[in-house]
Amino acid sequence: MDTKLKKAENISVCEHPIALQNLAIMRDKNTTPELFRNATKRLAEVLFFSATDNLPTVLKPVETPLASTMSKVIDPDSTIIIAPILRAGLVFSQVASELLPDAVVQHIGLYRDHQTLQPVWYYNKLPKEFKNPQNTYVYILDPMLATGGSAIEAIKLYTSKNIPHENIRFICLLSSPEGITHVQNHFPEIQLVTAWIDEKLNNQGYIMPGLGDAGDRTFNTVYEV
Ligand code: PRP
Ligand code: URA
Repeated sequence: MDTKLKKAENISVCEHPIALQNLAIMRDKNTTPELFRNATKRLAEVLFFSATDNLPTVLKPVETPLASTMSKVIDPDSTIIIAPILRAGLVFSQVASELLPDAVVQHIGLYRDHQTLQPVWYYNKLPKEFKNPQNTYVYILDPMLATGGSAIEAIKLYTSKNIPHENIRFICLLSSPEGITHVQNHFPEIQLVTAWIDEKLNNQGYIMPGLGDAGDRTFNTVYEV
């Protein structure tokens, strides 16, 4: 783990034992796709909990069986967007929508070209504008932050719709120092949340030691030709 980055502003490294236990399962090359998805879910849950601590709350009157009280709830005037980057972000978004069932889910179709390592768009159905950008909270989900190209494309999508930078969070299970620096150079005010920062990228743009190709391991397409 890069300790200098870990202490940088606008990055939160979860390091919770349940997160790390599941990250170890995901790293293991002998983990089956089923167990890989299960570990992703558990890790995603821990991470998503800590990443959503910026949601605004308001007081709401509640009648308990014994008395009247005021209880804190998520501000009903806020719009919450869960934005998984396809494909690997899908399992992550299932977990997120179970925790926030009223959130809007906006899929972001990006893949990384294997030769150039540049992100390529293939799906974007975002509305032209958001009704109340100041009250909109966006959680972009992707298991992997490698070169940072996909993250930057996805973040741009929301900053271009006037959503305040402090309302956008990028959440990933595993990240590289190079990817974090790349995203922070473009968007210093966007909060990054990750479970762990690995050592480096290899010359094919894979996180080392990493866990391999997250999408392929999730969907059992490792041997696709
Ligand atoms: C992976 C991963 C990220 C991206 C990260 O997706 O899920 O979206 O690579 O790399 P970057 O930081 O260098 O942009 P991939 O392109 O393999 O697509 P997939 O999820 O469809 O397999
Ligand atoms: N995408 C992945 O799935 N894994 C990596 O290590 C880098 C990009």
